[in-house]
Amino acid sequence: MKLIAGNWKMFKGPRETREFCDRFHPPEGVEAVLCPPDVSLATAVESGFTIFAQNVHWAADGAYTGEISAPMLLELGVDGAIVGHSERRQYFGETDEMVARRTVTALEAGLRVIACVGESLEERQSGQMAVVLRVQVEAVKDAVGDHERLVLAYEPVWAIGTGQNATPDQAREAHAFIKGLLDVPVLYGGSVKLENAEELLSEDGVDGALVGGASLDVESFTAICRTAANL
Ligand code: PGA
Repeated sequence: MKLIAGNWKMFKGPRETREFCDRFHPPEGVEAVLCPPDVSLATAVESGFTIFAQNVHWAADGAYTGEISAPMLLELGVDGAIVGHSERRQYFGETDEMVARRTVTALEAGLRVIACVGESLEERQSGQMAVVLRVQVEAVKDAVGDHERLVLAYEPVWAIGTGQNATPDQAREAHAFIKGLLDVPVLYGGSVKLENAEELLSEDGVDGALVGGASLDVESFTAICRTAANL
C-alpha cells in the first residue's frame, strides 16, 4: 500500500484544518497522512486521520523555546513526524546530526518518522548527488538502522515548490540508490501533483509521495490518493 503524506508547511490554522478534514474522504487501498502545522494538530487528530507533525525535538522536555517533544505529540494523539525537511535544513540550520537525533528520539518514543533527504541543484549538476544522499542517509542509518517505523523521503531540493518534478527515471535511480543504503520505504517528494502522480508512483522503489502544494486543496489531494490506491 502506498503512503501519501500531505505536508501543509505553514498553511492552515485550526479552522481551515477542520474544513479540510470534514471534506477529506481518502479511498481504501492507500495510507493517507496529513501533516498540519503544530497549532492545528489537535484539530486534525480529532478527525481520526493519521496525523504527523512537521518536526519534533530530540529532548523529552527542557529549555528549548519554540520546540515540541515526542511525548507531547504522543499525548496529543499524533502518530509521527517529518524530520529533516530541506526547508528546515535550509532556513533553520538543521544538520545531519540534528536530524539523526530527532529521528532516534521520535522512534524510541513510539512515533513514526518520515526523514527527508535530497540534493540541491548545484550538488546534482556538479556530480555530488550520490555523496550528498549517502551522507544524509547514513546519518539516519547510523543512528537507528532500518527501524520498522522509519520511512525516508527523497526530495530533490530543486523540485520542491518549483513545479519541476524529478522525472520518473531520476526518481527510480535515486530511490534505488537510497534503498541500497537503507532498506526502508522511500517516498518521493517535489512538485507531486495529480498530473504526474501516476507516473512517479508507478516507478520501482517509489513507495509513496510527500506532497506539499498539491496537498492543500482537498480535491487535488484526494485525487492523488485515489491515483495511488488504483495502482
Ligand atoms: P511541493 O513540496 O510538493 O510543494 O514541491 C513537497 C515538500 O516540500 O514536501
